[in-house]
Amino acid sequence: MNTDQKQDGGASEKGPRRQLYGRSKGKALRAAQAGRIADLLPQVAIDIERLSTDPAAQFAHGSDSFRPEELVLEIGFGGGEHLAAQARGNRNIGYFGVEPFLNGVAKLLGEIEADGLDNIRLLRGDARDVLAALPDFCLAGVYLLYPDPWPKRRQRKRRIVDMAFLGEVARVLKPGGELRFATDIDDYAGWMLARIAHQDELTWLGERANDWRNPWDGWHRTRYEEKALREGRTPAYFRFKRRSPTPFPP
Ligand SMILES: C[S@@+](CC[C@H](N)C(=O)[O-])C[C@H]1O[C@@H](n2cnc3c(N)ncnc32)[C@H](O)[C@@H]1O
Repeated sequence: MNTDQKQDGGASEKGPRRQLYGRSKGKALRAAQAGRIADLLPQVAIDIERLSTDPAAQFAHGSDSFRPEELVLEIGFGGGEHLAAQARGNRNIGYFGVEPFLNGVAKLLGEIEADGLDNIRLLRGDARDVLAALPDFCLAGVYLLYPDPWPKRRQRKRRIVDMAFLGEVARVLKPGGELRFATDIDDYAGWMLARIAHQDELTWLGERANDWRNPWDGWHRTRYEEKALREGRTPAYFRFKRRSPTPFPP
């Protein structure tokens, strides 16, 4: 067993893919939401087949030649509050959002329509498929905000964070790009830091307690965070920077 496998409790990257999420649908959609899933989602969907060649080209539409200056990915955007706020505030940046939960996708489509957020592209599905399709060094940032905690010991193998996942994040981030992670579960914070310690390409930017007690500039509270605060849990925020690739020794 190699170090990576030990870090992940023996779970191998080979073999059947781990099932990470539970339900992918909630209550029935309202008619307007169902209409947006049918009509708007295909227009703003990530085209996985073409992602590897030129991810920024995903944002061109019709005769419009909009090309974002930077690309950012949000994994598991939930209801899309954070993603929509980011996209509203940074119209020159292209945001990829991935979320398997239909009702969350429907909610974000409402925001995209209301505010004309043409700098968002979505996939209803598994973020690992988008990561696998992205070329090396293409993203300025990756957000992983309150991933499903899977708190019980026997459930932990369903956590999205493992060495293979971090390796993929490091591969797609540009040097200097950041993985930003928030959690309200102490054990998940430790889980992440233990794996980052074995990930040579990502380095934790936290130096003092306020760096993880306070969110980064531009933070927009998510629905899950509101719930965590209501229930008395304390959020923690982490920024990990993608190191420059080590030059081949002369
Ligand atoms: C605890 S919720 C947090 C949602 C949102 N980030 C927030 O803070 O409100 C975790 C989200 O991750 C999504 N998720 C789980 N596994 C995923 C995967 N493999 N790819 C993309 N999203 C995933 C879930 O459907 C869920 O919406």
